[in-house]
Amino acid sequence: MLDQFGREINYLRISVTDRCNLRCIYCMPEEGIKLIKHEDVLSYEEIFEFVKVAVQFGINKIRFTGGEPLVRKGFVNLVKMISSIKEIKDLSLTTNGLLLSHYAKELKEAGLMRVNVSLDAIDKNEYSRITCGGNVEEVLNGIRIAKEVGLSPIKINCVIQKSTKEKNAIDVKNYCEENELIPRFIQEMDIEKGEFGVVHGGNGGDCENCNRLRLTSDGNLKPCLFNDISINIRKVKYDEAIKFVIENKPACGLSGASHKFYNIGG
Ligand code: 5AD
Ligand code: SF4
Repeated sequence: MLDQFGREINYLRISVTDRCNLRCIYCMPEEGIKLIKHEDVLSYEEIFEFVKVAVQFGINKIRFTGGEPLVRKGFVNLVKMISSIKEIKDLSLTTNGLLLSHYAKELKEAGLMRVNVSLDAIDKNEYSRITCGGNVEEVLNGIRIAKEVGLSPIKINCVIQKSTKEKNAIDVKNYCEENELIPRFIQEMDIEKGEFGVVHGGNGGDCENCNRLRLTSDGNLKPCLFNDISINIRKVKYDEAIKFVIENKPACGLSGASHKFYNIGG
């Protein structure tokens, strides 16, 4: 469906959990996080029913995000359910990769097409510092297996401070070249200040061509990450929720958004 600025909305990002097995320094607020209550988290059945309605409005691309999707129990089953919807032409996952070596094969068999893996450094100590204790070897192993089972093309999301010439960014770039992966460099953002930057090698932050909607793990459907407009899909009919957010999708993102990445998932 076209929004009021003529953008064809065909892409839905679904956050399946606000939980994560890492604590990246730029993602988590200092005061710690208030987790969504279990009863407020959408069930896989609800997500499935919602997507079946969304495809009637032209959604044909789905990306799962988090938090970290792979920490939610039974996530592979959700992939199976969603991939059974024939209108879905592109089904992908954004993950920090820690659990990817365990799930890559099952995910592929369940119908997942490709993955984006967050990787901000190759150096063991740097990775551990940025993620507060993560082990980069597990991520590299996960990427290797994802490639082996054919979850490709694999994109690597690397958050940079200021420039793609930083040591960590150069390491990631070289690693991607050696392993035939597609790097995307993302400027670190301060969501509370409403800053958002263009993704080098991607199309985030490009409001004019933004084709996305987002669904948070507690059911808030949002037309834009940098805007407070949202409607909870448990409170109205699914088709009404979708119509509402497409009709109210802003021309461009604003400051003052209320969500951090761990609960909306980029
Ligand atoms: N600035 C930029 N990127 C961020 N991500 C999480 N928080 C931020 C932030 N403050 C990135 C993750 C991942 C993607 C989902 O969003 O590193 O690659
Ligand atoms: Fe977890 Fe991603 Fe946030 Fe890191 S950036 S803590 S991996 S949700």
